Parts: sequence; structure tokens; C-alpha cells
Amino acid sequence: MLAMNYRGPYRVRVAHKPHPEILHPQDAIVRVTRSCICGSDLHLYHGLVPDTRVGSTFGHEFVGIVEEIGPDVTKIKVGDQVLVPFNIACGECVFCKQELYGNCHESNAQATAVGAIFGYSHTAGGYDGGQAEYARVPYANVGPTVIPADMDPDDAVLLTDVVPTGYQAAEMAGIQTGDTVVIFGAGPVGIMAAKCAWLFGAGRVIVIDHVEYRLEFVRNYAQCEAYNFESLEDPVLFIKKTTGWLGADVCIDAVGGDAAGNAMQTLTGRKLLLQAGSATALHWAINAVKKGGIVSVVGVYGPTDNLVPIGNMMNKGLTMRGNQTSVKRLLPRLIEHVQAGRLSPKDIITHRVPLEEAADAYHIFSAKLDNCIKTVLIPSPAKF
Ligand SMILES: NC(=O)c1ccc[n+]([C@@H]2O[C@H](COP(=O)([O-])OP(=O)(O)OC[C@H]3O[C@@H](n4cnc5c(N)ncnc54)[C@H](O)[C@@H]3O)[C@@H](O)[C@H]2O)c1
Ligand SMILES: [Zn+2]
Ligand SMILES: [Zn+2]
Repeated sequence: MLAMNYRGPYRVRVAHKPHPEILHPQDAIVRVTRSCICGSDLHLYHGLVPDTRVGSTFGHEFVGIVEEIGPDVTKIKVGDQVLVPFNIACGECVFCKQELYGNCHESNAQATAVGAIFGYSHTAGGYDGGQAEYARVPYANVGPTVIPADMDPDDAVLLTDVVPTGYQAAEMAGIQTGDTVVIFGAGPVGIMAAKCAWLFGAGRVIVIDHVEYRLEFVRNYAQCEAYNFESLEDPVLFIKKTTGWLGADVCIDAVGGDAAGNAMQTLTGRKLLLQAGSATALHWAINAVKKGGIVSVVGVYGPTDNLVPIGNMMNKGLTMRGNQTSVKRLLPRLIEHVQAGRLSPKDIITHRVPLEEAADAYHIFSAKLDNCIKTVLIPSPAKF
């Protein structure tokens, strides 16, 4: 089969790979009909994630048709159209039982922080992902969810990560009615967090980025304010000033370790790899939130040390929450939001590309070219 293939930082190609096989009675094989490229894939693409092995296939956002199931799979059957949450979760461990599907203790038994994620390096379990014609889906009674008959597969593929992550970002921020919510990052996750912040009762939503077309997009898509940090002398000062010098009620980091905007962070976090990614957006979030406020972190950082202003966090009495999203926990209510028309995820898709052109697609998404917000890769046997 054809599959995206990692060759090293900034180098991917599409190559033939053996067709995945059922390795465990609870496995399923899914014929992929759509997969997305995520901002999380960019951390891998940029070589920021430890133990990203040459030859691995990325892709944790995919939908497809069940092609084959192991003897213990009862919840889905051959021929079902399924969306596959990005977390690989056993459904049985102490963390899955608390619906912390992003922290499963079984699927990635070598790690103490993150559970397993499709196509996300050996630090996240070493499972191949769905930027391919087929994918092996472990614990197939837990994650894969049959796509409702009336749902567009383009909406469904965004329910595997982006929509739940934007939603969980807003949920973890504990937004109260009327709150001023500041979101760093106008990528797909920040855009969806802005949209979802209103669902939680926000009174004002402000998005900060430095890519003009994305700021323009989020202004329209989420009816919010959006500012370019390069045209602000100091984004933290700007937020204080616009909130009567108190600071935002909540700040959301939807950027993670690839953040721009601070030369020292960029040098130590992205170039020299002396810390687990650049913590610029996290700095701004901690410093721009009001005393006693909440910082919600969905932007991805590596598990080792980062230079963050922990003293400010402590002395301001902040609450900080972060996690990989627990997709399965949120799916029922998000499917409802999509079906009711309160969320229209597919509107953020700007690029639809044959799987064979994945290398170009990565470059375009990484370099923020061609007004790219979200890219869907489509294997040639699937229809556009
Ligand atoms: N927690 C989870 O479960 C989860 C799930 C999906 C994605 N993520 C993470 O969320 C983050 C965003 O994902 P995405 O797909 O939107 O990525 P993306 O790369 O498309 O978007 C990131 C945006 O941040 C902007 N940016 C860079 N530096 C900034 C700064 N200092 N301040 C404000 N904006 C800045 C970039 O210009 C870009 O538009 C990534 O770190 C990704 O790994 C987390
Ligand atoms: Zn993702
Ligand atoms: Zn588990």
C-alpha cells in the first residue's frame, strides 16, 4: 500500500509499505478515505519530537471503512464507516476508566505521561498512522466510532482531533459567562477553541497570531477579535491594556513548542533543542492572564524541561491545566453540535490533496503558504 514515510526533519515522501495486518484479536484494519495533517505533525516534521523513526507513517486524524476485524471486535463490523480518535486507548485501565483516554496506561506502556497516539513517534507508542491507504487500529472496540449516516466525512475527520481539542481547550479553561478569553494561535486548534469559547459563554474572544490570513480567517469564522503580535509592541501589555489592566480571565495556549516571537526561546527551544520546544506562547499566556486566572494548554510540548515563568504562575495564584484531548469522551456532545449546525468543522478545510502529494502538502502547511489552514490527504482509491 502507499503510505506517507518520514525520512528525517523536513523530509517526507510517499512510498510503498506492507499492508497492515491484524496482530491482536481486538485489532481492526481500516481503509483510509481521508486523513489530515495536523499542527502536531509539524512538531514531528520539524524534528522536535524524540524518537521519531525514519520509515514511520504519521497521521492521527483519519476516517475510513472497516476492512477487516479481529475475532474479539464486536463494536464495529466490516463495511462500517468510522472516525478514529487520535488517542489509542485500551478502555480498561485506571485512566481510561476516568475517561482520560489521552493518558491510557496500557497502549503506551513504556511512557509515564502520554498515552499512545497514531503516527506520533515511539514516545507515543510507535504505532503507524493513517496518512496511508490502510491503518491498523488497535483496541477497535474502544476508539473507532461509526460516522452518523447524515454526517459529511469532512466534518467527521475533524472530529478525530481538531474539534475535540478546541473544545477541550475551552473546557479546561473553565470559562464563566462573560469572560474575556485570549487564545494564542490561529491554527485549526486555536480557531476551533475560539469558536467553542462562545459555547461556554465567553463575553469576549481575542486571538493572537502573526499569520495575517489566519487572523482574517478566525475573525470571520469565529466572530472574534484577532491581532498580529508582530504589530504589537508587547502582546502581554496589549492584553493588559485592553482588559482594564487586569489581564484576561483565561488564556489558552494553542501554539505549543513551535512558537515564534521570542529569539531566545526560538534559539534554545527550536534550534539548539536545549528545551522541549519554544515556550513563548506559554510565557505570554501566564503573563497575560489575570491574577487567579486559568491557563489552558493544548499546544504540545515535549515531556522534558521548558523555560516557563513558574514564579509568575505561583505568585499570581493561577490554575494551569493541560492534556492531550480525550476525544472519545467528547464525541457524543460534539457530534450533536455538528448535527445541530452549531459547529461546522469542514469550513476550515482549505486544501484537498491526493495522498501521493503529501510531501508538498507538508511543506505548504508548515511554511503557511497558499492561505493554508487545514489539509486533507485523500488516497487515490477513495473519492474526493
Ligand atoms: N492537546 C492535544 O490533544 C492537541 C491536539 C491537536 C493539536 N495540538 C497542538 O495544538 C497546537 C496547535 O495545533 P494547530 O494544528 O492549530 O497548529 P498550527 O501549526 O497550524 O498553528 C499554530 C499557530 O500558532 C501560531 N504561532 C506561532 N507562534 C505564536 C505565538 N508566539 N503566539 C501566538 N501564535 C503563534 C502560528 O503562526 C500558527 O498559526 C500544536 O502544538 C499541536 O501540536 C494538541
Ligand atoms: Zn492532530
Ligand atoms: Zn487505558
